[in-house]
Amino acid sequence: MKILVIHGPNLNMLGSREAGIYGHQTLSDVNTQILDLSRSLEMDAEVFQSNSEGAIVDAIQAKEYDVLIINPAAYTHTSVAIRDAIAAVGKPAIEVHISNIYKREEFRKESYISGVATGQISGLGTEGYLLAVRAAKKIILQ
Ligand code: DQA
Repeated sequence: MKILVIHGPNLNMLGSREAGIYGHQTLSDVNTQILDLSRSLEMDAEVFQSNSEGAIVDAIQAKEYDVLIINPAAYTHTSVAIRDAIAAVGKPAIEVHISNIYKREEFRKESYISGVATGQISGLGTEGYLLAVRAAKKIILQ
């Protein structure tokens, strides 16, 4: 049972980036919690962050996993390539956003990813990743 967690562009700056929107936890804090929870649920987890769309597409295609958890960040609203990679691989994918993308600017309200995702978690802060890990376990056991 393995999950792959992908963090998109600028999420490497969590903790210092717009803390009023994204909170004070660093990406390293979030990844530690993801890895700890996955271990306690007896799942392997790999975390990956990139600012590059192509590197994210390559990871979706090449890495081994049963469920993908992805915060595509700004690529959520632009990337046909990431959407197509998720569809091409055909594995369950959970889309996570730290902020509520529906309460923000108009351009954030459209997700290119949600149409190929199993589900979406938006607006619950970094806790959303942990909820996604729990959901991934249920999906794998189904
Ligand atoms: C985000 C929301 C996106 O609109 C934004 O570009 C991000 C982060 C979130 O986690 O709330 O970088 O995906």
